[in-house]
Amino acid sequence: MNILITGGAGFIGSHLVRLFVNKYPSYHIVNIDALTYAGNLANLKDIEDKSNYTFVKGNITDAALLQTLFDKYSFNAILHCAAESHVDRSITDPLAFITTNVVGTATLLHAAKNSWHGNYDGKLFYHISTDEVYGSLGDTGFFTEQTAYDPRSPYSASKASSDHIVRAFYHTYHMPVKISNCSNNYGPYHFPEKLIPLCINNIINNKPLPIYGKGENVRDWLFVEDHVKAIDVIFHNGKVGETYNIGGHNEWTNIALVKELCKQMDIKLGRTAGQSEKLITYVTDRAGHDLRYAIDASKLKNELGWMPSLQFEEGISKTIDWYLENTKWLEEVTSGNYLKYYEGMY
Ligand code: NAD
Ligand code: DAU
Repeated sequence: MNILITGGAGFIGSHLVRLFVNKYPSYHIVNIDALTYAGNLANLKDIEDKSNYTFVKGNITDAALLQTLFDKYSFNAILHCAAESHVDRSITDPLAFITTNVVGTATLLHAAKNSWHGNYDGKLFYHISTDEVYGSLGDTGFFTEQTAYDPRSPYSASKASSDHIVRAFYHTYHMPVKISNCSNNYGPYHFPEKLIPLCINNIINNKPLPIYGKGENVRDWLFVEDHVKAIDVIFHNGKVGETYNIGGHNEWTNIALVKELCKQMDIKLGRTAGQSEKLITYVTDRAGHDLRYAIDASKLKNELGWMPSLQFEEGISKTIDWYLENTKWLEEVTSGNYLKYYEGMY
């Protein structure tokens, strides 16, 4: 079985590539990644020499390259992870998100359709998506697979568009597709522009911890290895044409989460209790900031038996330890353009 994974040098993609390469030696995994600021081959150092793994530097909007790859490998399946993923960047540069997330997904679907010529036996297009397509919740309730789409940022609108295009290929051309919509991930290799790794890095370096607005927005956090295990289960056992929500049942306000990080890091860094919390700095809120995300993952539990395996306390402790042990990785990704991005930000 030849499988194309897109965006495999990013955060979630690298965990997905690692899981599939190690768990399924009979699958050949081809990872196409454009290596944007968020893509990093250092995320895959431990598996780069495996005989069932191939890396191709390339862009999912490049139809000619995709055609060449489909001709060469006759892919049985595509696990589509590549995307522009950061909400704040989508506010300053929405077109990059439309190009990769909308046009890129459509280009990939089109390449698969051309290559498979309507013979879909044993074929699958699996689209990895986000709970942000459902919009924003109030204080109660959960997103289910039936929740109407209501995206509110350029990022979530681009992901919602890509979900719709994937479903259009299922209904119109009968291409076998699956979609999963997951809540906020955390864990090793998370690029330090997102809340958790940004705060871990800033605590290490005694820099301000920017909290948007009042810090009362709520996110549902899931350890990244549990996300890719869910993708594995859905890929192999999920129903074609279906959507599955993936979540951690683990809601935190941003301020409570950052205070928990500070507490754990004070202990791990041998600082006096309360020292890191002094770095908390309230800054201007994100434009159109969604109040709350929370996932009802009961379909995935009831139909496919998936549940998160790791308690948050353990996951966050493992995550902090990983960043403290991988300072070289952290220093490399937070130099150069990274510093430029944050110049004059707050
Ligand atoms: P990421 O930003 O860490 O990685 C994205 C990867 O895609 C990078 O390696 C980048 O180089 C690559 N890429 C970007 N544009 C490309 C292009 N045009 N062609 C080829 N490669 C390109 O993202 P992530 O956090 O790992 O998210 C991966 C996927 O999971 C995305 O589709 C995202 O919407 C979805 N998702 C993320 C989360 C989360 O919490 N991070 C939660 C739910 C869903
Ligand atoms: O819900 C899934 C989504 O989770 C994914 O689809 C996205 O790709 C991923 O980036 C993530 O989006 P969020 O916007 O929720 O994640 P982020 O880490 O950027 O922000 C988490 C919360 O913390 C959010 O309410 C904004 C807030 N925040 C974020 C940053 C970067 C701050 O208060 N300060 C910050 O500096």
